[in-house]
Amino acid sequence: MTIEHVPVPALRPSEYTAALIQGLRARVGWIRGADALEIGSGSGVVLATLGELGAASLFGVDVEQEAVAIGAALLAKLGYAKRSQILCGDMWTPVVGRRFGLVAANLPHFPMNNPEVSGRLPSWSDGGPDGRRVLDPFLRGLANHLTPGGRAIIAHNAFVDLDRSRDMVAKAGLTLNIAHTTLVYLPDDKLEHMTESVLGREEGRSIHRYGPYAFADMHIVEIGAPGTLS
Ligand SMILES: C[S@@+](CC[C@H](N)C(=O)[O-])C[C@H]1O[C@@H](n2cnc3c(N)ncnc32)[C@H](O)[C@@H]1O
Repeated sequence: MTIEHVPVPALRPSEYTAALIQGLRARVGWIRGADALEIGSGSGVVLATLGELGAASLFGVDVEQEAVAIGAALLAKLGYAKRSQILCGDMWTPVVGRRFGLVAANLPHFPMNNPEVSGRLPSWSDGGPDGRRVLDPFLRGLANHLTPGGRAIIAHNAFVDLDRSRDMVAKAGLTLNIAHTTLVYLPDDKLEHMTESVLGREEGRSIHRYGPYAFADMHIVEIGAPGTLS
């Protein structure tokens, strides 16, 4: 059976995806030969990057059935079907008891009260009022899904309390470093729905406005046991 890959506009990669891919491409040594997992695999393009960089196996998880189908079709089109699998499910549930050498994630973690962002599914960006609805369960479960010496690379908005994330992984014996920081554009419909207290706190800190245009700092962070990070 031929699997067709027809890109779905709602699953188009974002600036966050691009920055995550940049972080992965700078860490080929971590990826080559690793069993790799992406939580929230969406379009499948991050898994495709991991395949290109030499991961031994590619595993994806996404809550959206459409993302699972589109991601699997992309991986098949690029020749990774035999070493890849994407399952539909919530967070760590499809990979209970499994460990990976490399975990990537660009999770929905925008602090908002209304998950409607035009052209996207509600599950794409909505991180709940403080942005941590999906991020916290990810961080809580991470240590149980890394092999010894395994690492994670994730996108992390600067306005979503990085110190809290650092403290959470420290409880499991992991450290968190900022790998690099980039600016992402905040479109009006996202900004309009941003939790007011976060906007009030972060304007002039991690959120930068130039007339009608707003941008925010976004970190790519690496997480692993002490001594294993760059
Ligand atoms: C910001 S998108 C990133 C997608 C992917 N990295 C890409 O660039 O195409 C977040 C993804 O996480 C998925 N997602 C949201 N909540 C999830 C959950 N609880 N468990 C697994 N996936 C989830 C969404 O369906 C979406 O595909």
